[in-house]
Amino acid sequence: MDMERPLVDAVPRYAPRPKGRTVRTVEPPITKISDPVRFILAETRILPVPHAPELRLHLADEAVELWQRTETELEVLGLPPPYWAFAWAGGQALARYLLDNPAVVRGRTVLDFGSGSGVVAIAAAKAGAARVVAAEIDTFARTAIGLNALLNGVIVDLAEGDVLMTPAPGFDVILAGDMCYERPLAGQVITWLRACMAGGATVFLGDPGRAYLPKGELKALATYTIPTTRALEDAETKRTSVWTFV
Ligand SMILES: C[S@@+](CC[C@H](N)C(=O)[O-])C[C@H]1O[C@@H](n2cnc3c(N)ncnc32)[C@H](O)[C@@H]1O
Repeated sequence: MDMERPLVDAVPRYAPRPKGRTVRTVEPPITKISDPVRFILAETRILPVPHAPELRLHLADEAVELWQRTETELEVLGLPPPYWAFAWAGGQALARYLLDNPAVVRGRTVLDFGSGSGVVAIAAAKAGAARVVAAEIDTFARTAIGLNALLNGVIVDLAEGDVLMTPAPGFDVILAGDMCYERPLAGQVITWLRACMAGGATVFLGDPGRAYLPKGELKALATYTIPTTRALEDAETKRTSVWTFV
């Protein structure tokens, strides 16, 4: 079933780009989303998360081709990459940490900011969180989170609107996997995470030391060697830590 929906609000303008892809900036107007569920199921395979194989996700083999097919599907150019089709190094590290240290979320309310595939949110739910909410602005990612939660037998709710506008959203724990890849977004996210912490939340970031991670403000709680792909990261593995504010 086709439906018309404005995509403007769902398009972040700050995206890391998989290698070998030229960025085109075309303002997306009204676009067609024929069926995100069908698209995701057709374009992905069910695979274990490399560093958290207890979890399985609908994952893509190849970023650039999928990105191009997403633009074809939506009949719009200049879209962000299909973040939802990969478990990023930061998300994998955070997922591993939660599965190995379930006490940090058990019985607590949890918000996963920039959820992508939902890998971190799903790990939090598996670790025994009382309630898990995923904050995600991308339409396909929001659908992927639902499919991946179902696949793993957990419930993950979706936040409405832009949670960055709510400095203390009322969760016990806030998680952010791989969100420091672009300067304006990283600055906004770090300020917001600090405000959440001031409001009483415990904050954890998963990050391989991206350019805009403010390492001086953080301490590493655990460090892992995360399998990744050359197409996405130009490396087979990434040393990736789970961080909290000093
Ligand atoms: C690099 S991916 C990380 C995904 C996941 N956390 C992981 O580690 O696999 C960044 C994600 O943040 C999402 N994002 C960017 N800006 C956002 C915002 N303001 N609110 C919610 N999600 C956002 C993107 O759509 C994308 O899915």
